[in-house]
Amino acid sequence: AIKDPYKIWLSEIILQQTRVEQGTPYYYRFIKKYPSVFKLAEASLDEVLKLWEGLGYYSRARNLHHAANQIVEKHKGIFPDNYAAVIQLKGIGKYTASAILSYAYALPYAAIDSNAIRIITRYFGIKEEVESLTAKNKIESYAQKILDKKQPGIFNQAMMDFGSLICKPFNPECNQCPLNKNCFAFKNDMVELLPLKGKKLVRKTRYFNYLVFISDKNILITIRNEKDIWKNLYQFPLIEAKTNYTLTQLKREIRNRKITSQNLDKIRASDVFTQQLTHQTIKTRFFIIEMSDIADINPESSIKIKVSALKKYAFPGIIREFLQKNPYF
Ligand code: ADE
Repeated sequence: AIKDPYKIWLSEIILQQTRVEQGTPYYYRFIKKYPSVFKLAEASLDEVLKLWEGLGYYSRARNLHHAANQIVEKHKGIFPDNYAAVIQLKGIGKYTASAILSYAYALPYAAIDSNAIRIITRYFGIKEEVESLTAKNKIESYAQKILDKKQPGIFNQAMMDFGSLICKPFNPECNQCPLNKNCFAFKNDMVELLPLKGKKLVRKTRYFNYLVFISDKNILITIRNEKDIWKNLYQFPLIEAKTNYTLTQLKREIRNRKITSQNLDKIRASDVFTQQLTHQTIKTRFFIIEMSDIADINPESSIKIKVSALKKYAFPGIIREFLQKNPYF
């Protein structure tokens, strides 16, 4: 089994919001390019984001790179072996700290992920809303109590696998569950009710209108600096609005914002591309604007690059998808 804390850390970060099948090739590419914490810390953020391209939730990559530098600076490049030091690392919370310390160093920390929460709330009958402090304290206390302190890594992994194979969120396999005789939820017909979820999540819809200025083989891109999503990834000049514009609306905006005075007869609008994120839905339309000269266009400090150089930059998945579908690129 893998015992390198660096590799365990990397795999846990990749798998946080990603399925194993999707994350595995990324894991191997990262290990190959950055075989040690030093290599990862030395790399540029741009390069790390490029390797992460397509995985989504890019703060994971930014935090990973930041934490690699913390490890080099504070721990001489050796992944720390105690909870207090590990929890200080950027992007590592209670779950990830416990997972790494138990897998790599056999330290007795229960890794409490959604699987563990589900198993424990059902088996012990924790009926409070899972996000409440009462429930959290009870779950932590039970998790630490049932943990096999002699082999915490195996125990934590077993909880995860048991949660995904038997004690599943929907249609759990209670009839073949070895714990059903003493499971509170099973005995009280509450399996589908636990864990009790509180407020359900509301998604906000945002409308992005991207201006893709092209002249000959040149194209304008910008780096995204907003803290909300896709920070440090590349994009095109953007007008976020209350809707995805029609061609007429877009032309009016270009005039109002004095983006260019050149005449705009060669504009095409793409279909709307939709991306679901956890807390928001992003609806995007691209306007391909062909012009004789893009030198005078300078919205939000854009960079002029060759169309053929687009592949060197990390773009959000939705932009990659657009580029792939468009024969122009
Ligand atoms: N997702 C996150 N960590 C995991 C693990 N150790 N095994 C399977 N899926 C995971």
